[in-house]
Amino acid sequence: MTHPAVTDLIARSNRLGSDPRNTNYAGGNTSAKGVATDPVTGEPVELMWVKGSGGDLGTLTEQGLAVLRVDRLRALEGVYPGADREDEMVAAFDHTLFGTGGAAPSIDTAMHGLVDAAHVDHLHPDSGIAFATAADGERLTAEAFGGRVVWVPWRRPGFQLGLDIAAVRREHPDAVGCILGGHGITAWGDTSDESERNSRWIIERAQAYLDEHGRPEPFGSAVDAWAPLPDEERRARAAAIAPHLRGLVSTDRAQVGRFIDDAVVLDFLSRAEHPRLAALGTSCPDHFLRTKVAPLVLDLPATAPLDEVLARLDELHRTYRADYAAYYDRHAEAASPAMRGADPAIVLIPGVGMFSYGATAQTARVAGEFYVNAVNVMRGAESVSTYAPIPESEKFRIEYWALEEAKLARMPRPRPLATRVALVTGAASGIGRAIAERLAAEGACVVIADLDLDRAREVAAGIGGADVAVGVRADVTDEHAVQAAVDAAVLAFGGLDLVVNNAGLSLSKSLLETTVADWDLQHDVMAKGSFLVSRAAARVLIDQGLGGDIVYISSKNSVFAGPDNIAYSATKADQAHQVRLLAAELGEHGVKVNGINPDGVVRGSGIFAGGWGAKRAAVYGVPEEELGAFYAQRTLLKREVLPENVANAVFVLCSSDLSHTTGLHVPVDAGVAAAFLR
Ligand SMILES: NC(=O)c1ccc[n+]([C@@H]2O[C@H](COP(=O)([O-])OP(=O)(O)OC[C@H]3O[C@@H](n4cnc5c(N)ncnc54)[C@H](O)[C@@H]3O)[C@@H](O)[C@H]2O)c1
Ligand SMILES: [Zn+2]
Repeated sequence: MTHPAVTDLIARSNRLGSDPRNTNYAGGNTSAKGVATDPVTGEPVELMWVKGSGGDLGTLTEQGLAVLRVDRLRALEGVYPGADREDEMVAAFDHTLFGTGGAAPSIDTAMHGLVDAAHVDHLHPDSGIAFATAADGERLTAEAFGGRVVWVPWRRPGFQLGLDIAAVRREHPDAVGCILGGHGITAWGDTSDESERNSRWIIERAQAYLDEHGRPEPFGSAVDAWAPLPDEERRARAAAIAPHLRGLVSTDRAQVGRFIDDAVVLDFLSRAEHPRLAALGTSCPDHFLRTKVAPLVLDLPATAPLDEVLARLDELHRTYRADYAAYYDRHAEAASPAMRGADPAIVLIPGVGMFSYGATAQTARVAGEFYVNAVNVMRGAESVSTYAPIPESEKFRIEYWALEEAKLARMPRPRPLATRVALVTGAASGIGRAIAERLAAEGACVVIADLDLDRAREVAAGIGGADVAVGVRADVTDEHAVQAAVDAAVLAFGGLDLVVNNAGLSLSKSLLETTVADWDLQHDVMAKGSFLVSRAAARVLIDQGLGGDIVYISSKNSVFAGPDNIAYSATKADQAHQVRLLAAELGEHGVKVNGINPDGVVRGSGIFAGGWGAKRAAVYGVPEEELGAFYAQRTLLKREVLPENVANAVFVLCSSDLSHTTGLHVPVDAGVAAAFLR
């Protein structure tokens, strides 16, 4: 049975964590202490439940809590070897755990356990961090909170910080919490409600103080050259910059990107002070682990010619990498982990917006959100004081902390298609849908492009949230719609690596029955549609310089000759030859182009469900629902071909195992001798 203290703790954590004004994503932690019965002795035992390492307060569940014995945790004070060896205490926490299971205790466990209060909240609110990073934060804290909130100077999270906060609680009985210099806030209470009230009071009081005392225009005056471009122009500019930029930031390892152009970012970038402030970097320890110590900032007018922008980004990226390596060299010691890559995580383009990057779409999004947090923090701090984040040497001690390195080493191995962005046309149904699902399951971010927007969105939602898949409307016969879909992919995930030309339809008519409109429709969707998609995608692939894959879902009918199929089979043969032509042309850019020849995929196929299946079944004299099995009997392997079988082949073609294969067609037809390739 869940302990009542745990029920309250989870509810409070979810309430606090779901409002971004209270804490940033996965930032902060909460705890409760209470008495339970020790099953070994039958005696009462005081326990602490505290959010464990990782996870987010907004979605915290009981499984995310570490459970420790308070007496043993406090006894650690007796063996504490001092601040210079405080990291050793993290391993010692394991010896204070109660029972089995539960999350691993985080570095912040000490601050919760050592403070003599039943309930403790540690949070990273923008308003609180504005105080924490203001040059005269200590004075401001006294002025705004009059002794009820105490200033604790910056110190890297750990056992000593826990002792510092415990001392504040002892020495200031009237205090309800503290501002942790350069970091965030911690509040406490005798009950869960009281702790939550105190946390909210500090956050709201801090914001009210900034609103009341802050000077207008803390980021300086607006600069004309950096004024936001109009909506459409801005997004077109972002889409034009994104591929080249992604290539740059993927110098050390491939990254996924996210574009954000909300009002907070555009306002910051339009102001005179943004270059100075951006150079100071982010501050909250949680922030810059994801954002890197500082962003890369383009220093050209919003309307500068595109080629000038790209050339300048090349220069700035070179400088960024050199500066980062110099930062590493300035602070690294013999025992420091190796440099983790010198590419930026945040790139700011005045007038256009922000690109954020990470190893997954989720980490890229969170990095962007953290930078928005940082902008809010800078605005608050600059409005009442001067923004003064922790010194560079301390940032390095966080970024290359042995404990962080250990966390990174424990991360699961990335999936085979991690960091790859895929666009699958016609993916709202049948084979395309199966392909999208498989690519996503292998770690790719997927854009579902289809005529049918509602179904495209449904399929995307079924695969996962916006960090995994997005649905867009695209008629592949329309040049502008194709460009818009490719742009949408680039803005959602930073670029594009893998394109599947799958959209199609089949009319199956004899020569004499085939109208010009039939002919045009089939050729428009398949031959011309694939050409348009491949052309728009290839521009991105070439700009990125990261190679890539284009896969055509052609057909057995591209080589097999039979009656009643002139338009469909001819356009499939056109697609098949596009594979060879583009393999020859795009090879020098590292882009592989391959095709798949499926046959008889009845299940899930809109082509078959839309009347064609019924007709075929009537021709063969079998019930429609047995058509798949009937086709299976005609194959060499006697197996029914399913959408997943085609999806498997797409995955294999794009996996690193087939890195040296281009211009190939793979039959996925369970064996049809008449369609053997030779
Ligand atoms: N099903 C088979 O047996 C089989 C065999 C060989 C090849 N293929 C090929 O596989 C592909 C997928 O077929 P399926 O069986 O999954 O069919 P399907 O009808 O289930 O899916 C095709 C999808 O393409 C979309 N689409 C059609 N026109 C479009 C356009 N102009 N722009 C964007 N999207 C468009 C449709 O909305 C649909 O979601 C087709 O190219 C088809 O020719 C299928
Ligand atoms: Zn913290």
